[in-house]
Amino acid sequence: MAAPRASVHGEWSSSLFFILAATGSAVGLGNLWRFPYLVGDNGGGAFVVIYLLCILLVGLPIMMAEIMIGRRGRHSPINSLRLIARDEGLNPAWQGLGWLGVAAGFMILSFYSVVGGWALYYGFEAFQGGFRGIDTDTAGTLFEGVLASPGLVVLWHSIFLLLLFGIVAAGVRRGLQRAVTLLMPLLFLLLLFLVLYGALTGGFAETLAFMFRPDFSAVDGGTILTALGQAFFTLSLGMGAIMVYGAYLPSRASIPGNTVWIVGMDTLTAIIAGLAIFPVVFSAGMEPAQGPGLVFVTLPVVFGEITLGTLLGMVFFVLLSVAAITSGISLLEPAVAYLTERGPLSRAGAAAIITLAIWLLGIAAGLSLNVWADVRILPFADLGIFDLLEFVSNDIMLPLGGLLIAVFAAWRIRSKTRLVELGMPPDSLRFRLWLLVTRFVAPLAVVLVFMNALGLFG
Ligand code: TRP
Repeated sequence: MAAPRASVHGEWSSSLFFILAATGSAVGLGNLWRFPYLVGDNGGGAFVVIYLLCILLVGLPIMMAEIMIGRRGRHSPINSLRLIARDEGLNPAWQGLGWLGVAAGFMILSFYSVVGGWALYYGFEAFQGGFRGIDTDTAGTLFEGVLASPGLVVLWHSIFLLLLFGIVAAGVRRGLQRAVTLLMPLLFLLLLFLVLYGALTGGFAETLAFMFRPDFSAVDGGTILTALGQAFFTLSLGMGAIMVYGAYLPSRASIPGNTVWIVGMDTLTAIIAGLAIFPVVFSAGMEPAQGPGLVFVTLPVVFGEITLGTLLGMVFFVLLSVAAITSGISLLEPAVAYLTERGPLSRAGAAAIITLAIWLLGIAAGLSLNVWADVRILPFADLGIFDLLEFVSNDIMLPLGGLLIAVFAAWRIRSKTRLVELGMPPDSLRFRLWLLVTRFVAPLAVVLVFMNALGLFG
């Protein structure tokens, strides 16, 4: 067996910082922006139940698999997969899985950064008191105005990416670790404040009923695909973000223990985001099914009406920005780590090149919301660039990446390697359960959902 490797990028100071970083990666726009509107659009409780099942049966085991591969390889996903495949006598083509991840990361970050830019811009507006007394029409016009303005979209997308660049260029300890140590406590505080406020607001009972009383009549194959895609997205799985963070995890740290923390905190945050957002929506007499505009249109109106609304608006959009930043850095890191490993570029040089490429792709995503609204890349899919990037990366590349990660970790590598990394006794129930789920349940779920989405079940 090969001697344990060291990461050339450095390691987290302890498990705690890994948990902060990975939770920072997981908790993001997916929790605060996407999850609430998906719940709203997909009928509430039934979606929540299916989503939780996907988290438990697919997300959790695959996260363990990703961290395990990362820590074993101690490199960027591409090189970790290449090195492990070599150690274990497997097909070198497995490194292609790392490339799939890098491609997915480029695509996700390009549109993620556009939305992250809106969060920054709205935070800025809130500080200026821009939501005071705003009504639904004005809020709608404000958001549409942002979308329709190529200048604004590109400006704030650029600022967002520049922040990520600064953090990632500074390295694992001085950049990533320092950023999450500062930002994550802030995030938890802001979230706590919001949910306390929500609990004291009129709409709380209605929210509980909406989120937890399942009505399965609205569920179809598409709902399940959406829930599965969201499970991958919210846990940052399927593209190597968690894998590369795992590469910096100290050898003595427990992978299963850390995973439970990360998954638990991410799930809790999504639920809390719903509990914080829907009460203000309901108490203002608004509709939950607002689509992507939910937090950008509905919430400003609510903030404009209620007491302490300006303060609350600032809190919310700062929270959204912080969460987006700590997620964005994890989308950038796998590619930057890879380019740094290749040499001769420094980390900062590598980060600059990758950021630049994503910036360009993000501009295309941003412009597709206004001046390029009619541009279609794929003749058979009626999706603009933004929606196409989101659909292909979220709904196809992440589940596919996750499927291959599960197969690699649970079928291909030696059982000894798995046991060493997971630190579980071979005949323990926990290990058997993980193996069973990662071998069969998780891959099968992905395949079935794919087949369903392709209409193979009629
Ligand atoms: N999980 C983040 C969110 O919920 C987004 C994210 C960060 C991500 N890194 C990722 C999604 C890697 C997929 C893959 O907002």
